[in-house]
Amino acid sequence: MSGFWASWNYSRHGRCLRFSFLVISVLLVLQCEGVGKEHFHSFQKTYNTTTSFTVTPSQNGCPLKTTVYYPVAGGSFSPIYFIGGFGGVQPAETYSELLSKIASNGYVVMGIDRFSLSGDLENELWTRPSERTLQVDKSSERFACQIQWLRKNIDTVPELHGTLHSPNWNKTTLMCHSKGCDVILKILENNIAQVADMAKAAIYLDPFSIHSRKAPKVKVRIPSFSYLSALSEKFPTCCIKGFGYRRFYDLMPCVKVKMDVQGFGHCDLLDYKYWELCHKIGFCVTTNDTRLEEYKNFLQKEVTSFLSWTLDGVTEVKKYLTDPKYIPFPLLDLAYNETKCE
Ligand SMILES: *[C@@H]1O[C@H](CO)[C@@H](O)[C@H](O)[C@H]1NC(C)=O
Ligand SMILES: *[C@@H]1O[C@H](CO)[C@@H](O)[C@H](O)[C@H]1NC(C)=O
Ligand SMILES: *[C@@H]1O[C@H](CO)[C@@H](O)[C@H](O)[C@H]1NC(C)=O
Ligand SMILES: *[C@@H]1O[C@H](CO)[C@@H](O)[C@H](O)[C@H]1NC(C)=O
Repeated sequence: MSGFWASWNYSRHGRCLRFSFLVISVLLVLQCEGVGKEHFHSFQKTYNTTTSFTVTPSQNGCPLKTTVYYPVAGGSFSPIYFIGGFGGVQPAETYSELLSKIASNGYVVMGIDRFSLSGDLENELWTRPSERTLQVDKSSERFACQIQWLRKNIDTVPELHGTLHSPNWNKTTLMCHSKGCDVILKILENNIAQVADMAKAAIYLDPFSIHSRKAPKVKVRIPSFSYLSALSEKFPTCCIKGFGYRRFYDLMPCVKVKMDVQGFGHCDLLDYKYWELCHKIGFCVTTNDTRLEEYKNFLQKEVTSFLSWTLDGVTEVKKYLTDPKYIPFPLLDLAYNETKCE
């Protein structure tokens, strides 16, 4: 287990040696370049460099602002739509590190915002989140329209036009953080703008939805990953028990995983400067800043392994979601159900 993680860290962040010394094995150091890369990288091509661009209502005539992260090298990439916290009020750009890491595994990640915030994000963001949240009740329709807009128009956006980037819409994933998952749940429940018809997988990161409590079981048969960072439920509660990942897991009909990881919190997946803000004002409980990079690498790996397994049929990576031996952090909960989605 440590061999795998050591290798994986090495290839990205040069941390391998430190881990290897723990295991005291010269062989492991060699494996960093050989076996480790094979374990993770051979299933999916990874890309060194990712980039991004933004489409906005004012410049592109779309319903909502969206930041698109994708590998610079051309290819056919699976699309992931992402909606952030507070029902998409938390801008995708505050998750840019994680979303770029995910994109580097061969995905086009489209982070959709509820508002086109401009200027000083930091000040705008944390001022009155609860008031902002009140405004987003009817937002599911607009997100669904934006999802369809991107599907129809993304190839014509100047940054991508005429390049070799072509999203493979047959592998469309819906992903969210926190109350962004409330929007996705409503989209799946009501097939708003036929978006449920195009979805092939759902990834719920620290989901929170009051609606979920009474929501009917989701009928759309797609694989799903329901994830919780345990500190999210610690005071001041940023996820409330009964309205979160367990409930999302229960609502989904087929192949699914739920995981509760100890020691991390609701803001730990954010870009550093937004994490720092959350940490300083104590908005949610966070870890300290010694393992943030490791945490984001872990999350990207869980997300992309889940999609490789369920959408690309790479069963070898299933163990990174189902076997604690291959998961580098202590878990409070891990369960899965392999009832087929077809
Ligand atoms: C990664 O980037 C480096 C430097 O930019 C380049 O030399 C190398 O070939 C790249 N590797 C891959 C797999 O694209
Ligand atoms: C997507 O699915 C359609 C219908 O099953 C198929 O014709 C098409 O080739 C698929 N596209 C890709 C890129 O796999
Ligand atoms: C950071 O958190 C880790 C894990 O909880 C702990 O072992 C370490 O001592 C902490 N470091 C600091 C500087 O607080
Ligand atoms: C898995 O899910 C199916 C369908 O919801 C359910 O009938 C079955 O009992 C579940 N299996 C376990 C072990 O929970």
